[in-house]
Amino acid sequence: MTRVFSGVKPTGHLTLGNYLGAMRRWAAVDQHEADALFCVVDLHALTVEHDPARVRRLSRQAATLLLASGLDPEVCTVFVQSHVDEHARLSYVLECVATDGEMRRMIQYKEKAAREQRRGGSVRLSLLTYPVLMAADILAYGAGEVPVGDDQRQHVELARDIAVRFNQRYGHTFVVPRATRPEVAARVMNLQDPMSKMGKSDDVGPGIVYLLDEPDVVRKKVMRAVTDSGSEVVYDREERPGLANLLEILAACSGGSPQELAGAYRSYGDLKKDAAEAVVEVLRPVQERHKELCADPGYVERVLRDGAERARGMARPTVDAAYRAIGLLPAV
Ligand code: TYM
Repeated sequence: MTRVFSGVKPTGHLTLGNYLGAMRRWAAVDQHEADALFCVVDLHALTVEHDPARVRRLSRQAATLLLASGLDPEVCTVFVQSHVDEHARLSYVLECVATDGEMRRMIQYKEKAAREQRRGGSVRLSLLTYPVLMAADILAYGAGEVPVGDDQRQHVELARDIAVRFNQRYGHTFVVPRATRPEVAARVMNLQDPMSKMGKSDDVGPGIVYLLDEPDVVRKKVMRAVTDSGSEVVYDREERPGLANLLEILAACSGGSPQELAGAYRSYGDLKKDAAEAVVEVLRPVQERHKELCADPGYVERVLRDGAERARGMARPTVDAAYRAIGLLPAV
């Protein structure tokens, strides 16, 4: 059975982009078709300026939302990255295989480093080595598939390169992973700025639909989405990015393809109304389940404890093998 690994980073409240681009498919498909692990990658949240209490709060919330979105701890493993030492252990060894040049070519590094500098902060070393820790997350478990949105594909490619290089130099140790993506909504855009990704760490609140937004807030955000000044509803990502984004969101939430849906609308207003209702309906069961889970925090804690134990057992043999292969003396 294929092993699947993926994760979410608790740097902000989870968004419709996280859900449509990744989480929904993890629950609907991956957990049933593969031996799957899903992780709240809290170590990654420390790579930028952060408030410790907020990271803890967001980590718990992200874990609760993973379960609310339908991940079933009876069929997959849900856990928190920092609870399993193997991630950090392997990351160091992989830093001895990856290169400085590779890290500096990562698009997300360039964007995030520039943002930190604009805000007057300094760039943490861990931001540069972020993709190595991500490679460790994936390789420690022998994951063959990594279901992610488009923004993470470059990082998964790098994990592939590192695995191949390690295997060539030190003997076969790692499964070489590949990224998989959803058919639609692999890149949900910001409703106020359809040239930018809908990202949870961004500041532009009105353009981001959060998973826990009240229905009326969702409606308002979608109805106010930026479109262009035309009137005909067509699907054209290059020329009409705002409209294309709404069509993709509607397609992802209610089925059909963005192209077909475009033909069914005569006005932007009707499209927005339907897109808003479709998003509200998709989020409704997640929000209801989230409320139930919040009333039983002991359950979420138990899931995370058991998940970490299971994950540790899966990762340790591979990480031990990597330590031996690269030349470290086994502890007796
Ligand atoms: P993160 O937390 O930014 O996002 C979690 C998942 O959601 C997807 N996603 C989107 N998909 C479509 N449209 C969007 N606007 C959108 N925004 C986010 C992401 O592609 C991702 O699949 N570095 C990763 C976390 C990570 C990870 C890993 C993932 C750490 N280790 C190992 C896979 C395997 C991240 O920051 O995801």
